Amino acid sequence: MSDTFKIALIGCGKMGLEIEKQAQSLGLEISQKIDHQHDLASTTFRPGEVAIEFTTPESCISNIEHLLQKNIPIICGTTGWYEQIDDVRHLVEKHGGSFLYASNFSIGVHLFWQTLDFLSKKINDFPQYDVRAQETHHIYKKDQPSGTAKTCQHIIEQNIDRITHLPTESFRQGEVFGDHHLFFESAVDCIEINHKAKSRAGFALGAIACAQWIADKKGFFNIDHYLQEKY
Ligand SMILES: NC(=O)c1ccc[n+]([C@@H]2O[C@H](COP(=O)([O-])OP(=O)(O)OC[C@H]3O[C@@H](n4cnc5c(N)ncnc54)[C@H](O)[C@@H]3O)[C@@H](O)[C@H]2O)c1
Repeated sequence: MSDTFKIALIGCGKMGLEIEKQAQSLGLEISQKIDHQHDLASTTFRPGEVAIEFTTPESCISNIEHLLQKNIPIICGTTGWYEQIDDVRHLVEKHGGSFLYASNFSIGVHLFWQTLDFLSKKINDFPQYDVRAQETHHIYKKDQPSGTAKTCQHIIEQNIDRITHLPTESFRQGEVFGDHHLFFESAVDCIEINHKAKSRAGFALGAIACAQWIADKKGFFNIDHYLQEKY
């Protein structure tokens, strides 16, 4: 049986379909597509398969556990479950598994976060600036604020001593793929930084790249481990 890299899609919704489309354009094999009507516990996998999981916060922990039991490396894009992150870390360690997660798989968002990190460290010395955030997503998105916005909050709260809770407005509109704004506003000016996803392709390509990276690794990772090694 071939052990060449192939992708098992867990979750065939908007992100699952985009990953399938991008994988096909890269000439990669989608070995199976598993949605809520399938029984993951009784699913068999082939050597070389890496699971890419984009489902729901309610289902992802159980999916992760089944995949770890089957020794399948996992990329998890589902958001809204991070309060259980320590439980997942213990599961990965217990099974000696391979697991990588990210609240946002777009490479551009990580450049945006690095810019935010740099700017917020500077702004710490300029008390005349108030800081606030806005995020907008499509009307189907269940969690709010988004996982990406929570990371923005974390960066600001780490770097600016006077801010213990970053005010963040969430909007749900139409088919917006993901739009994050940070405003640094004084009485005389406003510095604004923004990341706008033009489609779901960036998330899908990032998840596929991480799947290729984790295929021969063991451990509990987030996308920073991938980015630090690659860039
Ligand atoms: N990390 C990122 O870069 C990123 C980007 C976009 C979306 N997301 C997140 O990914 C998740 C999915 O987003 P989406 O837009 O594809 O949602 P979606 O609602 O379009 O798709 C979710 C799919 O999961 C399926 N599903 C539900 N329970 C399941 C189960 N037990 N087993 C298998 N499949 C199951 C549903 O039937 C559906 O097809 C959300 O949590 C979203 O916030 C993350």
